Amino acid sequence: MGQQEPQEQDPEDLLELSDDTRSLLESNDLRPLWEVEDDLGNESEGLEADIWKWEDIQAAIDGIERDVPIADLPPGFQRRVAVPLNTGGYDNAISNTIYVGVQTVSPGETAPSHRHSANALRFAIDGSEDMKTVVAGEEFPMKDGDLVTTPQWEWHDHVNDSDETATWLDVLDLPLVLDSLNTRQAFENHELERQPVTKSQGYWESQYGRARPEEQAQEGGIPGPFQGDREATPPYRFSWQDTLQTLRQRAENDEPDPHDGYSVSYVNPATGSPPLFPTMSFRAQLLQEETDPHFHNAVDIYFVIEGEGVTHVGDEALEWGERDIFVVPRDAIHHHEPDGEAILLGMTDRPVFESFNLYAEAEPQ
Ligand SMILES: [Fe+2]
Ligand SMILES: [Fe+2]
Repeated sequence: MGQQEPQEQDPEDLLELSDDTRSLLESNDLRPLWEVEDDLGNESEGLEADIWKWEDIQAAIDGIERDVPIADLPPGFQRRVAVPLNTGGYDNAISNTIYVGVQTVSPGETAPSHRHSANALRFAIDGSEDMKTVVAGEEFPMKDGDLVTTPQWEWHDHVNDSDETATWLDVLDLPLVLDSLNTRQAFENHELERQPVTKSQGYWESQYGRARPEEQAQEGGIPGPFQGDREATPPYRFSWQDTLQTLRQRAENDEPDPHDGYSVSYVNPATGSPPLFPTMSFRAQLLQEETDPHFHNAVDIYFVIEGEGVTHVGDEALEWGERDIFVVPRDAIHHHEPDGEAILLGMTDRPVFESFNLYAEAEPQ
């Protein structure tokens, strides 16, 4: 010790540990920071820009609908879903925070009632008045473009009383909770396949309208075994008719956002502000012109509601049409180029970053 002459040595050699020190560290599950440093942030490969074409998704969901009745599914989620996987080395979801799936329920089928810690929403693709998601005692019809929340720890089942197969997008914060935070999912099956319908249709919406009960219908803060200071999201249906009308009013009267076009956010009805869930935020975006490039550390996942176009992500061009799903990775420079008019459903984990004062967004220089 103290005998070395640093000037004559390769700096790397200065970090060479004696065999004794090395084995002391290793046998006690310790590692020096300068060796750990390069592994920080490299546990996964990172997300990649990616697109799933609707015709491929449709063929896949038709196939699994033919092959597997919901009633045959093993205990667990008991949902018939095709799950897009990000090619950046993910084998369970489209991103490391947000999961998207495409679910089908055949005429007469029920996806049985359960509840879990993950927040979820449904965005109806092929729906109808008689396709219902039952949440917290109320039947919510799922017409095309309707968005229905099934918040954390609320019972929910999906019941198809129509004569057509119903298809929708499931969006959950599963990978954030299960993989990124590496915690367990609280999960429970209802004793009945269909939970009892105890509320009339429109009940939940009525509790969060312009005239509200002085005491919120949903008492006691966050349901289930969880704690926190964010306002719980109620069971709620945003009808596509209303959302589209708001978008049209914006397009007629307002200036578009340079990056997102005419954009409206789905608010948490309890607060009147976004995000819809503490972990995920959603917006409907009407694009009429090419947008300006920007980048941000939150992920952007899109479902194409109407129209076609291209989203440029770095050097890649994701060419999309109606019902395609695509993902823009973190920190990737991107902009949209619609072919005429297009409407997208935008999904992001931005609220997670904002909770920690870590959201960052900029335009390329
Ligand atoms: Fe569920
Ligand atoms: Fe963006």
